[in-house]
Amino acid sequence: MNTSLNRITLLIAVTLLSGCSDKPIEFNDSELMSMSKTYAKEYSNTLKSNLKTAIENGGIENAIEFCNTNAIPLTDSISKAKQLSFSRVSHRNRNLLNKASRFELSLIEQYNQSKSKIPKLFQTGSQKLFYAPIYIDSPLCLNCHGTTQVSESVKSTLYELYPNDLATGFSDGELRGLLKIIYDNPQ
Ligand code: HEC
Repeated sequence: MNTSLNRITLLIAVTLLSGCSDKPIEFNDSELMSMSKTYAKEYSNTLKSNLKTAIENGGIENAIEFCNTNAIPLTDSISKAKQLSFSRVSHRNRNLLNKASRFELSLIEQYNQSKSKIPKLFQTGSQKLFYAPIYIDSPLCLNCHGTTQVSESVKSTLYELYPNDLATGFSDGELRGLLKIIYDNPQ
């Protein structure tokens, strides 16, 4: 009787502890932070310059198609080269794959209040996570994420590709989401 009670207590303790280790814990590592900032910059510069080229070549419409078919494979190709993975998550996501988790939503809420631009590092299980806030920082973004700036034809193309789109109605300077880097087996 006593032994089985002990077993149950142990089971509850183990469950609680493993539950706790899933919650990302913030930590400092200046080397990983500066490396991540370099990668994040490279990633967002590539996205922005590809977006600009696509717009120059065929207007906003062409750039939407480009984003839809290439945004995620592009992420993968940089990831393979560097053995880490990039993504973007948002509280008001366009692509369903970019929906923020509960933990990410709380982080987004913090950035929304502080308006800070300082990235953060977290540890969870064997993964290390880097998050940097993404703000709407150019009028370019508003063509596809704004309010009146989004033309009727852009609206209808977006609706065809992303029927559950939550990513319009933003204004300049607003928090759009988070850039995320996952390190699976950090050295
Ligand atoms: C030509 C239209 C277009 C422009 C301009 C544009 N975006 Fe997007 N954006 C998209 C599309 C389409 C997606 C969905 C891509 C996908 O399927 O992964 C997207 C996705 C995102 C995401 C990922 C989260 C989500 O909602 O799926 C972020 C963050 C984002 N855009 C930020 C920006 C910022 C910041 C700018 C300005 C520098 C910008 N975008 C300019 C069309 C655009």
